[in-house]
Amino acid sequence: MVPIHSPFDASALARSVPRYTSYPTAPHFASDFDPKAYEGWLAALQRDAAISLYLHIPFCDELCWFCACRTQGSKMYYPVARYLAQLEAEIARVAKLAGGSQPVTQMHWGGGSPTVLAPGDVRRLARSVRRHFPGAAEAEFAVEIDPRDMTRERIAAFADVGLTRASIGVQDFDDAVQEAIGRHQGYELTRDVVAALRGIGVTGVNMDLLYGLPRQTTISLTRTIEQVVEIGPDRIALFGYAHVPWMAKRQKLIDANDLPGPAERQAQSALAKRLFVEAGYTPVGIDHFARPTDSLARARDDGALRRNFQGYTVDPADALLAFGASAIGFLPQGYVQNDPVTATYQLRIAEGGLATRRGYALTLDDRIRRDAISELLCQFRLDIDALRARYGEAVAPVQETAKEVRAAAPTGALEPWHGGFRIAEGWRNHTRPIAAEFDAFFQTQPARHSLAV
Ligand SMILES: C[S@@+](CC[C@H](N)C(=O)[O-])C[C@H]1O[C@@H](n2cnc3c(N)ncnc32)[C@H](O)[C@@H]1O
Ligand code: SF4
Repeated sequence: MVPIHSPFDASALARSVPRYTSYPTAPHFASDFDPKAYEGWLAALQRDAAISLYLHIPFCDELCWFCACRTQGSKMYYPVARYLAQLEAEIARVAKLAGGSQPVTQMHWGGGSPTVLAPGDVRRLARSVRRHFPGAAEAEFAVEIDPRDMTRERIAAFADVGLTRASIGVQDFDDAVQEAIGRHQGYELTRDVVAALRGIGVTGVNMDLLYGLPRQTTISLTRTIEQVVEIGPDRIALFGYAHVPWMAKRQKLIDANDLPGPAERQAQSALAKRLFVEAGYTPVGIDHFARPTDSLARARDDGALRRNFQGYTVDPADALLAFGASAIGFLPQGYVQNDPVTATYQLRIAEGGLATRRGYALTLDDRIRRDAISELLCQFRLDIDALRARYGEAVAPVQETAKEVRAAAPTGALEPWHGGFRIAEGWRNHTRPIAAEFDAFFQTQPARHSLAV
């Protein structure tokens, strides 16, 4: 298919395209997916398959206006406690179906804010996971942390359960930006929480930053980045703010007049990349940075980098078992997603079944496109010869698209690469629009996504 809007046009950067944390992307999962199919996939999971575990905690003390995550504000604790009871029941049920004896490479608690959990519940939940999946005791243990929640007692609880990686939400330290996004979080507090976490043996610190936020400027972003570099995380995820008020209603509190325009967003993205590189960080994929000694930076160079729902990872797991409302998992056969509504999720687990709501069984063509898109996002290249060695002649449609993309590319944008192409350094901000050319769903029915840059 010849691109009508070329992925190489400047306008492609202002188009909304998926971030490709999965392929197909979640909007294309089937809504009539049968939970029985998931049960079958779990039963078929090999006992020596490496698995990862994801637990979703959809609660925050207070909601930030910019946030597009699946979460809800809760001033009281009893809804959280009630949810945890069902989460533990789901973990037990899934472990029984899968066997539970598989080696676990990573356990990740995300949200929302897992840091709303009472210290006693942090200990109980970690114990419960390890009881049903004993391999989790050996796994990397990562938690998404809102520094504003981190009391001395919570830090002690995470020390007890052996936290190894902390993923810290920062977004921006500027007062005017914080006012405009309804999130107040001081630099000193963040710095002290990172120091305390390092003190309890957390060896990996990630930070989330955003550009394209209301009232953000290249000047305010420069100051925020200087402060982040002073704190010195091991990895940084730098995302463009996705303004999607039709999906995340709370974003209606943000004045759209305060948002930087496309040219300003691109300037902010380019500036941030330059500043992180000057500070000694290695750029990884389309939106991450890592210390050169960090495993993520090393994976970039040896081809071991992978895409997952958190962005980039070195996790080599064959399956991701995901628990909690809206959580998305994958197995060798395809993807599954739990009911996104917390109350319905709880009801379905309380009734004794699984809470699977949507899912997708991968076809051969999907697997080829998934691998092609993942290679583009992780390595900025597409090796058709390797794809053919893996999948045979079924790669023909992808090879055809690769030819068309090459034909449409301006001089110097793409270099030949093993029957496919490699995106030249100066054109890598076009990676998402280029990847979208290989997305069979996007080409026929583009859903509304975030801006490419
Ligand atoms: C679950 S949240 C972070 C953990 C924790 N709740 C906190 O706020 O510190 C995960 C990350 O998603 C990113 N995020 C949320 N809403 C976003 C949006 N509208 N556009 C881009 N990134 C967003 C933010 O960078 C956020 O830190
Ligand atoms: S950014 Fe974090 S604390 Fe803020 S609403 Fe989203 S999940 Fe909750």
